[in-house]
Formats: sequence, C-alpha cells, structure tokens
Amino acid sequence: MKEVYLDYAATTPLRKEVKEEMEKYFSEIFANPVSLHSFGQKALKAVDGSREKIKEILKAESYREIIFTASSTEANNYALKGLIFYFYFKKGYKKSHIITSSIEHPSILDTLADLEDLEIIEVTYLKPKEDGLIEPEEVISQIKENTILVTLHYINSELGNREPVEKIGELLEKINKERKEKVFYHLDAAQAGLTENLNVQDLKCDLMTLSSHKIYGPKGIACLYIKSGTPLLRLISGSGHEFDLRGGTEAVPLIVGFAKAMELAFNEREKNVKHFKEIRDYFLQRLKEENVSFEVNTNLEHSSPKILNLYFPQKLSQETFLYLDFNKIYVSPGTACKSRSPEPSYMVAEVFRSKERAKRSLRFSFGLETTKEDIDYVVYVLKNFLI
Ligand SMILES: Cc1ncc(COP(=O)(O)O)c(C=O)c1O
Repeated sequence: MKEVYLDYAATTPLRKEVKEEMEKYFSEIFANPVSLHSFGQKALKAVDGSREKIKEILKAESYREIIFTASSTEANNYALKGLIFYFYFKKGYKKSHIITSSIEHPSILDTLADLEDLEIIEVTYLKPKEDGLIEPEEVISQIKENTILVTLHYINSELGNREPVEKIGELLEKINKERKEKVFYHLDAAQAGLTENLNVQDLKCDLMTLSSHKIYGPKGIACLYIKSGTPLLRLISGSGHEFDLRGGTEAVPLIVGFAKAMELAFNEREKNVKHFKEIRDYFLQRLKEENVSFEVNTNLEHSSPKILNLYFPQKLSQETFLYLDFNKIYVSPGTACKSRSPEPSYMVAEVFRSKERAKRSLRFSFGLETTKEDIDYVVYVLKNFLI
C-alpha cells in the first residue's frame, strides 16, 4: 500500500543537505562555543556563521538581533512574556493592552491567557473577516493609550491564509510616529519560511518567530528576531548566552542545520511556491473531476499554497481522518490537543463562525517531495469513502 504524508505543516523531514552540514558538529567539532580555547572558537565560528546567514536572509541590521531558542513555542513565549514583563516589572505598567487574533497558534493564545490570569495584561482578540483574514484597519482601530503590542501570525497554521502583514506593519509605523510609547509588532512566522518573504524591513516588525523543523531543518531549534531597541526581559538566566538574553549552551549542530535549511528555503522560494501551487491546484482539480463533494476553507488568493483546508459535508473529519490513516494517508483533522485526541479546528470554526463546519474539515499540507501520483492516490481513497 502506498504511504502519503500530507502533514508537512506539522513538521517536515530533515533534508539531506541539512543533515550533511550538521554531521561534523556532533562528534568532530563538539566543543562548547563559549570555551576560550581554539577548539571552542571553531564551534563559535559555526554559530556566528549561522547567525550571520539568518541575519542576511531577514535583512536584519545586526546578527545580534537573532536569538536561538529551542522551539517556535519558546520564541513566541519569549517575544510576549519578554516584552510584557519588561513593561510590567521595569516600567511599572500594571495593565498593558495587547492586540491579537482569535486564530493564533496555542503558543500565542495560551501564553496570553496565562498572563491574563495573572491580571497583568488585557487582550483584544480580533476575529477574522469573511475572507478569513485579519483586517488591518481593525487592528489599528483597537489601539489604546496602553497598547504595547500587536502579535499576529503570518501564515495561519490550519487554513494556510496569509495575513496582510506588510500593510499592518505600515499602518503601525505611521501610528507610532504620533505616539509617545511605541506599539511593538510581533509576527509569528513559524509557517512562513518555505513560501514567504522574511525581509524584516519590508514587514516592518520588531519581533519575528521562525521555525526550523517546518522548513526541513532539525527539531529542537528555532529563533526569534528582536529588532535592536526592543526591550525584552530575559526569561532564562545563565552565563550570558544569546547576548545575555537566553542562558544555556548553544546547540551547535542544530543551529548549523537550521541556518542551512533557511538558506535552502530562501534560495528555492520561487521554486517551492510553484511546486506547492501545482500540487494544490491539481488536488482541487482531481477532486472536482471525481465529483467529490467539498468546499475550500482556505482563502486561495491569499494563502501559502503549502496548506489546503477542505470541508467535506458528508462526514465528520475524525471519520475521514481515520479512514485516510487506515489507508496510510497522514493529514490533520484539526488542532492537535494535549490528550492527543483530535479536536475540531477552532480556527476553521472562527473563520466560518461554525463549529459544525470545523467538525467536517481537514488540513492537507504538502511537501517538496509530494507528487501528483500521491495526490491521485489520496483522491482515489477520498472518493471511495465520501461518495
Ligand atoms: C503558526 C505557528 N506558531 C508556532 C508554532 C509552534 O511551533 P513548535 O511546536 O515547533 O514550537 C506552530 C506549530 O505548528 C505554528 O504553526
């Protein structure tokens, strides 16, 4: 039986080129980059070179603006808690205001909920418009005197929708010119690496979260871009690592692999987008040809073509998910929750104002290695189940 993995938005495999680049940093150049001897300097050179590579891709002003974390979840926590704690503890702002959306990843929503529980922030949760997107003007209209942060995703993890992040950055820049206290702008770009422009000058963001394992890099590493001058309180104290912002010995092989994956993604972006579009459009065309009854949840005009979210009215997504799994087709039925039992996607429910629709929707996410033959097999299996 054929096996088809269509859950690349959850994670990707490690690319061969990335693995090769990492190899010698496991047991050959294994020194601690903070060791003062020349062996340690070799490891440091690898870390510095990797940081520089990422800095170039982001068009950051300094490599000191990139700090490595263990995951995008951690980078999101760092961005939010780091900034919020700074305003709370250092500036004495007892209730800062944050603007976000109701369709963020749990690493944003849960972090904000924890801080709301502590009663140190108040949060406005914007709802997506009918087209599934956040409206830039609405973001701006919610800004209050005590607003310190707008935090939004770049690519929605379950629908694939691409938010108008440049427009929001532009409007915020304008507003900030008239304000005494800046409204900082954080982008969760964990799903953006393979298909989107990550130039922080274009995006006009102050903070940006990136992922490694969603772009064919290793797991256990990610980074946060922090524009210089953005005040963050350190969450992990240690021996001065990451420019005194995050303690802990650097994971040299993972950092090297992440930078290589970033480089490949950057150089191959156009090719990737073309490939994903071809696969996505072929999938839609084949479903139509086979008269499978479905509707598209993703905003096809404004989305990363690597993600396609579909609504199948006839069956519950859990049933379709299990049938696909039985046929060795791996997709995502919704939010992976703590109990490992699938919950309907709250993001689909929010966009369509319908839990019922969310209960019958599935996310398909494509990889660089996904072929039209894979799609033919998926459509064949889906057709057998749904018709
Ligand atoms: C938009 C977004 N942000 C953050 C994360 C968290 O990434 P990780 O689980 O690698 O920490 C994910 C993972 O799915 C994501 O899609």
